[in-house]
Amino acid sequence: MSGALTIPPKVVVFSANTHRPSKARFLATAIVEEVTVITPLDVRFFDLADAGPGVGAFTRAELPPQALEIVEAIESADALIVSAPVHKGSYPGLFKHLIDFVDLTTLINKPVLLAAKGGGTRHALVIEHQLRPLFGFFLAMTVPTAVYASDADFSDHVIVDPVLKERIRIAASQFAVLLKTYERHFVTAAV
Ligand SMILES: Cc1cc2nc3c(=O)[nH]c(=O)nc-3n(C[C@H](O)[C@H](O)[C@H](O)COP(=O)(O)O)c2cc1C
Repeated sequence: MSGALTIPPKVVVFSANTHRPSKARFLATAIVEEVTVITPLDVRFFDLADAGPGVGAFTRAELPPQALEIVEAIESADALIVSAPVHKGSYPGLFKHLIDFVDLTTLINKPVLLAAKGGGTRHALVIEHQLRPLFGFFLAMTVPTAVYASDADFSDHVIVDPVLKERIRIAASQFAVLLKTYERHFVTAAV
């Protein structure tokens, strides 16, 4: 007897926080929780902080093992959830530096959900003006709805704003649609 076994997609959550606790990371976690209401995921979480101080290496060969692990996890994932704290109106420079090591061909057609967390609301378009073009360069399939959060959306480390919660639900549902569309990549051989 044979049949196809559908395995959950390997989703890498990369939050570009340089310290913990991190609201960018809490935002990413809230998004993951919402996606898993819809569909099972095989999730791995990484923070930029996990890369360690050696992340500033000039070549891939010089990256410390923990930074290289993040790059390789991003390259081999079926899909990504990326959440960046806003630093000086943009994503953190070391986040871009790490992404610069990602192989050019490895994100083609990958679903990527984009999120950012700033102190206020003035830099909400950081996603549309900076994160989305970055992943557009890699020919990734970015989720149409991006998720931006500010300090006012949180109470302690919990998201309390109902509009943000609804936006997370919409983004999660669109991410799930993209995962479903590309699920043939996640189907393994007969058992
Ligand atoms: C170096 C630095 C620069 C920042 N620049 C901005 C900024 O330009 N706009 C903004 O809205 N928030 C800015 N912030 C606030 C952070 O985006 C905010 O505190 C965010 O929650 C940090 O995310 P984290 O808790 O995941 O580290 C900055 C914070 C730091 C440390």
